Amino acid sequence: MLIAAAVGVLGVVTAVIVPTMPAGAAASTLGAAAAQSGRYFGTAISAGRLGDSQYTTIAGREFNMVTAENEMKIDATEPNRGQFNFTSGDRVYNWAVQNGKRVRGHTLAWHGQQPGWMQSLSGGSLRQAMIDHINGVMGHYKGKIYAWDVVNEAYADSGGGRRDSNLQRTGNDWIEVAFRTARNADPNAKLCYNDYNIDNWTWAKTQGVYNMVKDFKARGVPIDCVGLQSHFNSGSPYNSNYRTTISSFAALGVDVQITELDIQGASPQTYAAVVNDCLAVARCAGITVWGVRDQDSWRSGDTPLLFSGGNKKPAYDAVLNALNSASPDPDPTPTPTPTPTPTPTPVPDGCAATITTTNSWQGGFQSTVTVQAGGAAISAWTVRWTWPGGQSISSLWNGQQSVSGSSVTVRNAAYNGSIAAGGSTTFGFTANGTAATPTATCTSP
Ligand code: XIL
Repeated sequence: MLIAAAVGVLGVVTAVIVPTMPAGAAASTLGAAAAQSGRYFGTAISAGRLGDSQYTTIAGREFNMVTAENEMKIDATEPNRGQFNFTSGDRVYNWAVQNGKRVRGHTLAWHGQQPGWMQSLSGGSLRQAMIDHINGVMGHYKGKIYAWDVVNEAYADSGGGRRDSNLQRTGNDWIEVAFRTARNADPNAKLCYNDYNIDNWTWAKTQGVYNMVKDFKARGVPIDCVGLQSHFNSGSPYNSNYRTTISSFAALGVDVQITELDIQGASPQTYAAVVNDCLAVARCAGITVWGVRDQDSWRSGDTPLLFSGGNKKPAYDAVLNALNSASPDPDPTPTPTPTPTPTPTPVPDGCAATITTTNSWQGGFQSTVTVQAGGAAISAWTVRWTWPGGQSISSLWNGQQSVSGSSVTVRNAAYNGSIAAGGSTTFGFTANGTAATPTATCTSP
């Protein structure tokens, strides 16, 4: 009787508990929970706090992506023109990798936190300084950064246009120049445009940035991701159209990263809503909160983070639960990358390449080259052409070039050699000289 009763009780307990458990064991940290759906969960880290063991214990345990809160900004990394300093940036970087975390780079071209020497520059010398800065910092961290915020906060708070700044006054093309420079400096890093108040789909600023990304994708300007800072507060509250914002950017063929999340008051419901909106879009790659504990926040008075002292706040549980209930692969359909598509003539076998001019100006031009596979999939490609009139490539992305006189050879980059039967990929370049579209040949092994 006793045994039967005990078994009965256990049976009931089992029967009640098992169905309420999520499929698979729930993860117990934010990073591990996010990883279940292939995403990351990160935090901003401040070098000055790495001696605080409560801070490093929480950060070391919970997160698998790190952004330096200030240490990789322009004033920190290039305090004097041409003189780079990576002491604090490396401190954050090394802590992250030694603790098994990846790193987001923040940030290369921005009107904020510029060193004095850069604030006083303008025109061509500022443009050159920006290019040199991107090359210097990305060169130092080459191959080590998951994604860079190449350009930060370039749009005005209202109206949907660009923000006035010394960088903007160097010419409207400063953003695309920054992205092209960045692609060359570290072809393995994802290149993001990052901004605040672009979370609400109905806001003009959001639409301004959306149109820029759309234009960049159409013209082959290398951009891989949009960072939604997502600093939510009473003046800029979370809105349920956030999911539309994320999916709309993703549909342009870029990843979306939530880069600096904090929420005034840290409502668990709002935190869960943000996480669920990200989980609903396959190309929402991950979430970073802007600090570990409330006391670490740049807006500590808003108590906007997931920890208070050493304690998990209700918002922490809401985030963890939301991450744990994500389906492993929310949307396995890959988002197609829209490309400017000239219609290449069908190829029976091997591959074909077509060069189109996407932009031209006095003394230079930009082209997109479409590489199309024939009736069979290919795993590598080589495109060759000869310049008719002394043209020369100044910058090329999504391929590896070798040049001999007027003959150009471009091989696939490490990541775009494989093309499905009938599929295509593109690479692009800017060149000096008069725009030309020579006939290109394509071979595949
Ligand atoms: C903030 C830092 O958190 C502060 O410590 C610093 O004093 C100012 O910058 N958008 C950004 C971040 O892109 O770099 C900012 O970080 C917050 C707003």
